[in-house]
Amino acid sequence: MQTLIKNIACLVNVREENKLLHGKELSVLPCIQNAYLIIENRKIAKYGQMCEILNQKSEIRNQKSEIIDAANAYVLPSWCDSHTHIVFAKSREEEFVDKIKGLSYADIAAKGGGILNSANKLNAMSENELYDLALKRLNEVIQLGTGAIEIKSGYGLSVEDELKMLRVIQRLKHTSSISVKSTFLGAHAYPLQYRKNHEAYIKLIIDEMLPNIAKENLADYIDVFCEEGFFSADEMKRICKAGIKYNLKPKLHVNQLNSIGGIEAAIKLNALSVDHLETLNDNEILKLSNSETITTLLPSAAYFLRMNYPPAKKLIENNCAVALASDYNPGSSPSGNMNNVVSMACIQMRMLPEEAINAATINGAYAMELQHDAGSISIGKKANLIFTKQIPSLAYLPYSFGNNLIDKVMINGEFLSQAPQPLKGV
Ligand code: NIG
Ligand code: FE
Repeated sequence: MQTLIKNIACLVNVREENKLLHGKELSVLPCIQNAYLIIENRKIAKYGQMCEILNQKSEIRNQKSEIIDAANAYVLPSWCDSHTHIVFAKSREEEFVDKIKGLSYADIAAKGGGILNSANKLNAMSENELYDLALKRLNEVIQLGTGAIEIKSGYGLSVEDELKMLRVIQRLKHTSSISVKSTFLGAHAYPLQYRKNHEAYIKLIIDEMLPNIAKENLADYIDVFCEEGFFSADEMKRICKAGIKYNLKPKLHVNQLNSIGGIEAAIKLNALSVDHLETLNDNEILKLSNSETITTLLPSAAYFLRMNYPPAKKLIENNCAVALASDYNPGSSPSGNMNNVVSMACIQMRMLPEEAINAATINGAYAMELQHDAGSISIGKKANLIFTKQIPSLAYLPYSFGNNLIDKVMINGEFLSQAPQPLKGV
């Protein structure tokens, strides 16, 4: 069965060849105006200009085709969100209010807040309940245009609860209509009982968590929160090297609050991506510019925590491969809306609309090694598409921030019919 989508005002990010985009390449966003797209077996089969099919009536009309009139919508590849923590038990708006009142990160941690707060709540929740909540969040972001996603553990912080989180992610992989990648983040924070004995927790990660995760094949990547008061660069190296032995590539939280050697260590570890980078010096940018490691920026976390934004322009000027992701989590980015991420990247980090859209699609796909299935309009990739409402130009998407400009979302060649389910009690 073939589906023909006709009358597309602009088909966005059309690529014959897959390529991770570095530096200036990010500003080139290939589009076809007045286009058609053909889907076969849930995948993109053909595309071109409307005038081509108007002149070749036979090819389309002779086949059994469903015909969809896009009515001058812009059609984009779905967003590729390569950094999220959507498996969590409860929201943390009390900390949000405390921060408004002036409490610092340290004050909040001293009150039992932060990552350990999320861990306590997750420890008390069953796998089934966690799965139901995460599935609702996942369906919600799919309605917002996300078509591929990475999800981390890291709120378990014990063998049993890290495995519980990863099993939830595994179930989402099997049940969701979109591609899901799973990252083990046991090294997210030291649990209270290990505060004075870091070595014992690192041993727990290396000797107990990792072998069990490998046995059940529960993760694709390994992550560490490399930060003052969390994990040092040396600790990150040890943990990642242990993960690499089980074929888990590093995708790392570095340079969010402080620069403590995480970038250099991540590059030596051949990390797939370094994520956050709110605090980044010129020397580190130079090192990144000579590496293949993707720099994943999370502007909604910087916004929510009132931090400086990562130096996107400088990274692009230095030929880095910039990706954008949501960091959806209850502590620093309680939103997985990639449309807002793209807007924030343009408004606050001065990325061009073309750069931001490339960073949130093709480079995001590379940051999850899903580039063969997602991230662009290319023959053979999944027909995961965003259909916009009537918009005057592509730049209108990030310009008109906060407005919902998505008319319809297509996943695997089929339009989603259901409205997002409201989240209850989370
Ligand atoms: O990516 N920075 C570390 N981890 C998360 C936040 C975790 C939390 O506060 O729950 C992040 O921002
Ligand atoms: Fe994160």
